[in-house]
Amino acid sequence: MCGIVGYTGTKQAYPIVIKGLKRLEYRGYDSAGVALQQNGKVKLYKKQGQVADLEENIGTQNVEGTTGIGHTRWATHGEPSDRNSHPHLSASGKIAMIHNGIIENYAQLKSELHRKGYTFNSDTDTEVLLNFIEEIKIQNDCSLEEALRIALKRVTGAYVILLIDDENPDTIIAARKGSPLVIGVGKNEHFLGSDASPMLEYTKEVVYVNDYELAIVKPDELILKNIGNEKITPYIQKLDIELAAIEKGGYDHFMLKEIFEQPQTIFDSMRGRLDAKAGTITMSGVQQYSEQLIKANRIIIVACGTSWHAGLVAEYIFEEICRVNVEVECASDYRYRNPVINKGHVIIVISKSGETADTIVAIENAKEKGAIILGVVNVVGSSIARLSHAGAYTHAGHEIGVASTKAFTAQLVVLTLIALKVAYMKGSISNERYKKLLAELEAIPEKAAWILNRHESIKKIAEKYKNARDFLYLGRGYNFAIALEGALKLKEISYIHAEGYPAAEMKHGPIALVDDELPVVFVATKDAYHEKIVSNISEIKARKGMVISVITEGDEAITEISDDVISIPEADEIVAPMLTVIPLQLLSYYIGVAKNLDVDKPRNLAKSVTVE
Ligand code: G6P
Repeated sequence: MCGIVGYTGTKQAYPIVIKGLKRLEYRGYDSAGVALQQNGKVKLYKKQGQVADLEENIGTQNVEGTTGIGHTRWATHGEPSDRNSHPHLSASGKIAMIHNGIIENYAQLKSELHRKGYTFNSDTDTEVLLNFIEEIKIQNDCSLEEALRIALKRVTGAYVILLIDDENPDTIIAARKGSPLVIGVGKNEHFLGSDASPMLEYTKEVVYVNDYELAIVKPDELILKNIGNEKITPYIQKLDIELAAIEKGGYDHFMLKEIFEQPQTIFDSMRGRLDAKAGTITMSGVQQYSEQLIKANRIIIVACGTSWHAGLVAEYIFEEICRVNVEVECASDYRYRNPVINKGHVIIVISKSGETADTIVAIENAKEKGAIILGVVNVVGSSIARLSHAGAYTHAGHEIGVASTKAFTAQLVVLTLIALKVAYMKGSISNERYKKLLAELEAIPEKAAWILNRHESIKKIAEKYKNARDFLYLGRGYNFAIALEGALKLKEISYIHAEGYPAAEMKHGPIALVDDELPVVFVATKDAYHEKIVSNISEIKARKGMVISVITEGDEAITEISDDVISIPEADEIVAPMLTVIPLQLLSYYIGVAKNLDVDKPRNLAKSVTVE
C-alpha cells in the first residue's frame, strides 16, 4: 500500500527518490509522483501508472534540487488518476504533501473548508488535510510545523505525512500515526521511507518514528518532537539487511526467488532455537511468559491474509500437542467485535510486515483489556513487534513479491516451535513424540530443497491447466489451511477464481461445480485422514473433475486415481504443511507467468495493508 520516500542532503534528490519509489513498488500501487524544492519553490510531477511511466512523462524536464519527496499511491479516496495522485499542492501553491493512510473525518474537514471558499483539484482525503493545515497556518500566522501540529489534533485516522514548502528550504516535515515511517541518517543527509529499503544503499543507521511524533528533517539535523511540542532524542538503530536481500539475484521475479529461498529461510527461522540432538527449543519470549502459556485455557490467534492461514495451521497444532482451546480470528473482523478478552488471556499475533492496520488495532484493543500479546513477526522493529509484550521474529528476510511465500513457511516453523515448547513445558506431549517432531523440523529445509529441485514437473502441470476458469483446492486436517493458502496464491497471481475448502465439506456445495473442465487440487499427503481423502478424490473423479494431487512420495493409491501428482518427501503431518504449500506456490507462480501476468505486482493488491 502507499509508499513514501524523502531525501534532503547534498546530492540530487530526484534520482534517489525515484530509486526509492522503485524499491517500494512491491507494496502495491496505481500511481506515482514526486515533489522537489527548486529555487525556493515546490514543483510537482505525478502520473497514474508505474514509476517508469512517471519517469517517462517527466522526460527531460528540469528535476534539479537537493530536497524532494515521492509517493506511490494505492487508491482509497478517488479512482487512480493523474489528479488524484500524490503529491498534492495546497491552495496557495506553496506546500506539497504526500500521505499514506486514511483521514477518517475528511468529509467534515472538507465541508468546513468549502464554507471558507476552498475548492479541490482531487477527490482525495489528502488534499483536504493539506488545505486544512494551510488554513490553520494562515489563520494563526504560524509556522508550517505548528500548523501541522494543531491540525493533527483534529484529525482522526491513520497517516504518515511528508511536507515540503516554499518557506523552509532543505526541510522535510513529517508526522506519523498508525502507518510506518523510517528515517535514515547519513552524513549531511537524511532519507525517509515507508521502510528501510529506499535507503539501504546509502546508510545502515535508522530511526523508527513512533505514533504521534513529528520530525523536522534537514540535511544536518533531525529533530523529533511529540504532538505536545516536546523534543525527543532520536534512537538510532543499526540495520542488518544487505542490499542483495532486496534485489532479484538472477531470478525472473522476486516471487520465484523467495520461493527458492525457503530451504534457507526455514533454516534461519529455526537457527539458534532448535537443537534436535539436545532436545531443546530456546525462545526467550516464550520462556518469559511460560507460566501464562502453560496455564492458559484459551489462546486466540489474530492475523490477516496468508498470516491468518498460518494461524489456522497453528490452531490444529496447539490443540493437538498443547491440549488447549484455540480460536483463530481475522483481525479485520475481530477488531470491530466486542470479543471476550480478560486480563492474562494470551493472544498470538501473526504478521509478516508488522504493519497491517487491522491487526495493529485488534491487538491494541486486546492489550487494553489486559491480554498478553505474543508477536510472530518478520519485520524487526515494526509496529506489531513493538506493540507485543514478547514474541519471536520469523527471520525470513525481506519479502518483496506481493504474494507471501517464504514468510508463510517461516511463520509455520516459529508457530510449531512455540507449540512444541509450550507442550513440553506443560507435559502435554510425550518425550518420544517431542523428540520425533524436533527431528522432523530439523529435516524440513532439506525436504523443501528436494521439492524445489522438481520444479520443472510443476511447470508442466501449470502449462496444462493455465486456461482453467476456476480451481477448487481441497484438504483435510492440517492441510485444510494449505488448501486455502493454495487457492489464495492462485487468485492473487493468476486472477483465476479459486476456492479452498475442507475436503469432506465439499459435498455440501462445491461439488456442484465439478465437471470435466474443473481442476481440483487435493492436498493429500499421508496422514490420519489419508483413506478419507482417497474417497474424496474418487468422488471428484466420478464426476469427471480433473484431479491434481499433492502426495507423499510413492503413494500409488492416489497416483492411480489422479490426473497429475506432485510429490513431497515423507513428513509427519504436523510439519507437512511447511512442505505441501511449496508446490502450490510454484503452481500459482508458473500459471501467472504462463498467462504473462506481473506476478510480483498483481493488480489491486498491496503487500503491506496499512489502511483498514
Ligand atoms: C496483504 C498481503 C498478504 C499478507 C496480508 C497480511 O494482504 O498481500 O500477503 O498475508 O496482507 O499481512 P501481514 O504483513 O500482517 O502478514
